[in-house]
Amino acid sequence: MSVRFAIEPLAKAHKRTDFTCGNDRIDAYFRETVSQDVKRNYATCFIGREIATDRVAGFYTLSSSNVPLNEVPEPLAKKLPRYPTVPAVLIGWLGRHSDYAGQGLGEALLFDAIKTVATAPIGAHAVFADAIDDRAAAFYAAYGFTPLVRRPRTLYLPVATALNLVLP
Ligand SMILES: CC(C)(COP(=O)(O)OP(=O)(O)OC[C@H]1O[C@@H](n2cnc3c(N)ncnc32)[C@H](O)[C@@H]1OP(=O)(O)O)[C@@H](O)C(=O)NCCC(=O)NCCS
Repeated sequence: MSVRFAIEPLAKAHKRTDFTCGNDRIDAYFRETVSQDVKRNYATCFIGREIATDRVAGFYTLSSSNVPLNEVPEPLAKKLPRYPTVPAVLIGWLGRHSDYAGQGLGEALLFDAIKTVATAPIGAHAVFADAIDDRAAAFYAAYGFTPLVRRPRTLYLPVATALNLVLP
């Protein structure tokens, strides 16, 4: 995987116009809106580039955010300080081109996102993700993400737990 794809910050040279991951909202966001969000510092965007062809094979975005403490599921919430919110980073969007389905790229993008959050010099207790539909929620749940209380399409994983997934 790491040899076939390079994961790098979105740049002008990356062609986005034919990106198709199977979800129209994600495709439209990546084709038309993501660069505006990056420009305004609302998100960072990283893409998976197929090295042999230079094609954009997938992407994810990260934004600083927080989770209300009363939405963190038990028993995770019990161990946390009683501040009203938990500092976290949101994976707002994640998608991989349909041509690269089932080749481990979705996992590689997710693991890269976790490493980026874990090594950033800004505190974040958890990473959480907005799942676009139930299938996407199942994808995150398979890695141990837990649905937030009252928001089952938003899933939550402590960074310390997430690191266990990505460390050798
Ligand atoms: C979800 C998505 C990113 C997965 O990408 P992918 O490249 O097919 O996934 P991978 O090949 O890396 O699979 C990684 C693992 O997750 C599993 N998986 C993939 N989709 C899954 C799902 N919906 N539910 C549960 N597990 C799933 C795979 O079986 C695989 O597990 P395995 O290694 O035990 O076989 C991709 O289907 C996609 O882009 N979908 C459309 C957009 C989307 O739903 N984005 C999610 C965030 S909104």
